[in-house]
Amino acid sequence: MNKLDNLVAQAKDILRTNDLGGYTVPTKGLYPFQWNWDAGVTALGWLYVDELRAWTEFEKLFEGQWENGMVPHIVFHQESDDYFPGPDQWKVEGNPPSTSISQPPLLATMVRIIYEQSKDKELAQTKLDALMPKLIRYHEWWYRERDPENTGLVSSYHPWESGMDNSPAWDDVLQRVPQVTRPYQRRDLNHVDSKQRPLKEQYDRYIYLVDFFRENDFDYQKIYQNCPFHTQDISLNAVLQRGTLDLIHLNKVASVAVDMSSLEASAAKAEEVFPALWDAERHLFLNRDHDLAKTIPVSTSGGFMPLYSYSATPEQAALMAAEIKEWLVLGPSGLASTSPLESTFDAKRYWRGPSWLHINWMIADGLKHYGHDDVAEQLRQVSRAIIEQSGYFEYFDPITGEGCGGKDFSWTAAIALHWLL
Ligand code: GLC
Repeated sequence: MNKLDNLVAQAKDILRTNDLGGYTVPTKGLYPFQWNWDAGVTALGWLYVDELRAWTEFEKLFEGQWENGMVPHIVFHQESDDYFPGPDQWKVEGNPPSTSISQPPLLATMVRIIYEQSKDKELAQTKLDALMPKLIRYHEWWYRERDPENTGLVSSYHPWESGMDNSPAWDDVLQRVPQVTRPYQRRDLNHVDSKQRPLKEQYDRYIYLVDFFRENDFDYQKIYQNCPFHTQDISLNAVLQRGTLDLIHLNKVASVAVDMSSLEASAAKAEEVFPALWDAERHLFLNRDHDLAKTIPVSTSGGFMPLYSYSATPEQAALMAAEIKEWLVLGPSGLASTSPLESTFDAKRYWRGPSWLHINWMIADGLKHYGHDDVAEQLRQVSRAIIEQSGYFEYFDPITGEGCGGKDFSWTAAIALHWLL
């Protein structure tokens, strides 16, 4: 087998190995359940293995959808001792049980890609038609419960909700969260070197928040008013925006079109407020600290995500493209998750420096939209080089390309199949 065939075969094998029967775990051991945005990205990989299986990935995830429309960040389809905090900690009554927070809503966009690129058009139409009402309820939930004052930006209440769990962008806000005092036992350190994982004082706060949601009866108004961690995450908002635009498009090809005026109004409102998060010196967008009512001055790869949601002006896009090229000089093995110039940059500690393949892909997609094909192609080349060098790790040291975190990772394999191979 030549090198390319080998990489393709390996990627497909990873999806099959991580398949627990209709849903795919991100990696065995470290992450033994179904994660929300991982499921979306992973479905994209299944498209190259088995189209029906790609659709099942979404269906399984939506089994965990709440009455109010929320799609949880983790759906606990079965028990496992490998992970903390599990269902007994979140205490969400549901079948299947789940966490009480969400994750960046990229599902609608992934559904659109799969719908458009799949070969079995009849199957795709049936699956799309069945998923549409669920996707719409999910997006409506974001706007209704996470932006109850209609500001144009949805709120996040846990660093895990951003998907960029221990990004330094959250450090100061997280400092305001009390540390839990009850004893608990982490499980992640059984699987991964502690140098690549969050610190104990951060974990104490993560767990405080888990307890806080439960003690507030998962009531969105109470949480909106009182949650000690309250951010408006530019990356999550951009992913939501792109997803909503894709959903509005999908409504036109669905067998039954419904009234989308409320989602259209939400998307229009977001367009109005994104410009306030632009930082003219850093040449990217910033996250916002809700309680202090100001932007968070930390440059992260999430700040480029308005490229992916088509929310930047052409001038901003050009500045971001140039900025990304500079980051790639300092960290040539993929787009660093935190600017290599930040004092908090840490090449191997998760979300404080490493590069992730799906982020590289989403930002490259946005760059292409704005006509910066050269920088998009550069991101593709470096992403390809790191999997050739290191294989399908969870994330990569952006300076050396060394693979870090979990091995045989589903979304890394999926993005390779979709974008790199
Ligand atoms: C980590 C990542 C998160 C991802 C999860 C499963 O928690 O930070 O983005 O969804 O792992 O891969």
